[in-house]
Amino acid sequence: MDYRYLGKVDHLIHDLIKEEERRQKHGLELICSENYVSAAVMEAMSSVLNNKYSEGYPGARYYGGNEVMDKIESEAIARAKTLFRAAHANVQPHAGAPANIATYFGLCEPGATILGMDLSHGGHLTHGHPVTHIAKVFRFVRYKMKSVETGEIDYDEMRRVAIAEKPKIVLAGFSAYPRELNYKAMRAIATEVGAYAVADMAHIAGLIAGGAARNPFDDGFDVILTTTHKSLRGPRGGMILTATPELGKKIDKAVFPGFQGGPIMQMIAAKAVAFREALQPEFKVYARQIVVNAKALAERLMEQGVKLITNGTDNHLMLADAVASFGCHGGEAQTILDEVGITLNKNMIADDKRPAMSPSGIRLGTPALTTRGMKEAEMRQVADFIVRAIRAGSNDELPRIRKEVEELALRFPVPGIA
Ligand SMILES: Cc1ncc(COP(=O)(O)O)c(C=O)c1O
Repeated sequence: MDYRYLGKVDHLIHDLIKEEERRQKHGLELICSENYVSAAVMEAMSSVLNNKYSEGYPGARYYGGNEVMDKIESEAIARAKTLFRAAHANVQPHAGAPANIATYFGLCEPGATILGMDLSHGGHLTHGHPVTHIAKVFRFVRYKMKSVETGEIDYDEMRRVAIAEKPKIVLAGFSAYPRELNYKAMRAIATEVGAYAVADMAHIAGLIAGGAARNPFDDGFDVILTTTHKSLRGPRGGMILTATPELGKKIDKAVFPGFQGGPIMQMIAAKAVAFREALQPEFKVYARQIVVNAKALAERLMEQGVKLITNGTDNHLMLADAVASFGCHGGEAQTILDEVGITLNKNMIADDKRPAMSPSGIRLGTPALTTRGMKEAEMRQVADFIVRAIRAGSNDELPRIRKEVEELALRFPVPGIA
């Protein structure tokens, strides 16, 4: 983008945006929760819709002048429902965390118990990490993997905990788990204890939309919530989908007026554009390629002696044990890779003994590089860069790798960046 006006009004911010554009274009993005949106999504995001207050929902707003907004939000809702086969969609959550919080308040009373994935086994902060406020309002109990070698969840233990703790929500979903969940088993446990089955599919929404991962609604889930900016490749934001209109009413009340004020209408328009893109046949090809690329990257890393948690992946992400693979912790690996233009993040591994700021693992994924058009051959090259950089005996090697990283990156354009 050329940022004509910004260049005249605010040089500093203009130049910093240009610097970030350069970083994105010249580097390799492996943060598994990031992506590159299309120029069309970006145009919608930066439109005059920013100027409008639209508290309420289509047809029932608290301010005048919302005729156009009603059409935009209704279209976003209709597209979201088609994309995920939902009975109801709320497209107003400002991000994933507000979508989580509104869902908890929509479905249960404060003090209720929620059964979610253990955080070091892949669950997310919003699933009740003790540092969050939400962990003070609801009582979170946990399930884990049975084996870190296969990644299989211990469904027997999950059932035992559910019967003992009587959760109101059984929560599927993760931010660092590389395998498919058994939604049928989770639905059965939720039914047995009278809980809602809720999926936080923030990470894999794009895979589900493109048919490359299972849709929890097909296994009888009640609610699916998500971010829109990860594999789904839309603007930063959240969304909550329900299996019935009745549940939709509870969720709508919890989002507004329960938790948020005015919706961010330019983001809702951009969500609509992203949903339209995700409804095209090409998106199916994209979603499938994300998984094919992740498997290629994982296999090559393992061939090079890298220890992956669960020994591979079924989705877009993988977790490597940096300590076991390279003799350095995840933070050190992240810093070295930053130097060569490869971006990923340090991450806890299952039952990690190390602190969160220098955990044992690194997490990486393929949605962003797949958007650039990279395929299996490039994934193998990327794996080799990672291993060479972290194992480099001397710092002289790093500038050489950085140059090769840049050469590869520049062969694949970033949408919206000339
Ligand atoms: C599973 C999951 N839920 C919720 C969130 C929170 O999303 P946001 O950062 O948009 O608040 C994330 C973000 O990483 C996530 O991975």
